[in-house]
Amino acid sequence: MARFEHHIFVCENVRPPEHPRGCCSQKGSPALREKLKQLLKERGLSGIVRANAAGCLDQCANGATVVIYPEGVWYGRVTPADLAEILDAMEAGKVVERLLIPEDKLTGRRRGEPPKAAD
Ligand code: FES
Repeated sequence: MARFEHHIFVCENVRPPEHPRGCCSQKGSPALREKLKQLLKERGLSGIVRANAAGCLDQCANGATVVIYPEGVWYGRVTPADLAEILDAMEAGKVVERLLIPEDKLTGRRRGEPPKAAD
């Protein structure tokens, strides 16, 4: 069984066109993941980095949403044109700042803050 160093999850959730939250599939995420798989293969990373399809990552307004683990780096509004830069950054242990989803949008609070009473 393969043990990957990184998993790149691409939201491929599908909702009806009239749904108010929209979905990442409407924003091209299936093609995004296919391009990602192609780039991983071209870079010889197929056995090291896994491109996983994900359900809704609860960042619909920021889709197409991509998250990399174990780093926990969340990217929003990702297009196929961004993928090479994302992989370059991941391999260098860096992030693509312009695509990061702000942490307070991810959790409703910043890392280290105590949970709100309702959490
Ligand atoms: S549909 Fe992609 S994050 Fe919700």
